[in-house]
Amino acid sequence: MDAAYWNAVAGDYDDEVFNSVAADRSGVLRRRLDELRAPNRVACDFGCGVGHYLPLLAERFKRVVAVDFAADLLAVARARHGALANVQFVQADLARGRRALPRAHVGFCTNVLIHPEPRVRRAILRRIHRQLYRGGRLLALVPSTESVLYAGQRYAEWNRTLGHSEREALRMSMGATARSAADLLRGVLLAGGERTKCYLREEADLLFAEADFSVVSTDKLEFGWDEEFEGPPRWMGRPPPGDWLFVAEKR
Ligand SMILES: C[S@@+](CC[C@H](N)C(=O)[O-])C[C@H]1O[C@@H](n2cnc3c(N)ncnc32)[C@H](O)[C@@H]1O
Repeated sequence: MDAAYWNAVAGDYDDEVFNSVAADRSGVLRRRLDELRAPNRVACDFGCGVGHYLPLLAERFKRVVAVDFAADLLAVARARHGALANVQFVQADLARGRRALPRAHVGFCTNVLIHPEPRVRRAILRRIHRQLYRGGRLLALVPSTESVLYAGQRYAEWNRTLGHSEREALRMSMGATARSAADLLRGVLLAGGERTKCYLREEADLLFAEADFSVVSTDKLEFGWDEEFEGPPRWMGRPPPGDWLFVAEKR
């Protein structure tokens, strides 16, 4: 999941990569964004991708810095949202680069802390912490381990209803959930076939505490089963899957 990986995704991004802004069915994301609104302040979208959040941020903050290390994604973001006069696009590697970035009062980091390597994730979070002013807030969205395991159970159930044996249904579901038992324990699970770091709620609480943030709120950003599966059966219904949405304050 380096810049080359993300650049390679650019062509199919809209089909392949989860769009949390569009998926926010209950409106919890927009409510949290409204609470963070600060028309005289600077916001930074750390790992902005193709810029789904930029129109929402541009209308809630004085200035928005959109950072990403993938030049091709940043080019799409610029092509789509370059007309927003208060958005500045910056190419920088948050895990390694020394490139100076403007400091921000509010940070956004949505599905960015997902690299399988802990050292990369910690480096990104450290950089975000440095970029924020003391007392600044961070909205972070991360994949939920609880939700991926729940989806795995539903997938096994689905395969049982299609006539597979219990053992076979579990085997199919395991294969779609994690590459190994070690990965399962690490919370490195498969999302779209890609090894992706997912978080237990308590684990994310620890991650933020260790990075010197205090968690202010935790929500589940619910999305539809069609984000998990192609043609999910209607009986899957509620409760739906979801990601963890945190707001944390820099201590
Ligand atoms: C799953 S996408 C999410 C994009 C966007 N935040 C969203 O929610 O739509 C992950 C993004 O993080 C960016 N990214 C990952 N690691 C990065 C790093 N070390 N420095 C800068 N950007 C990074 C990727 O290039 C990609 O655009």
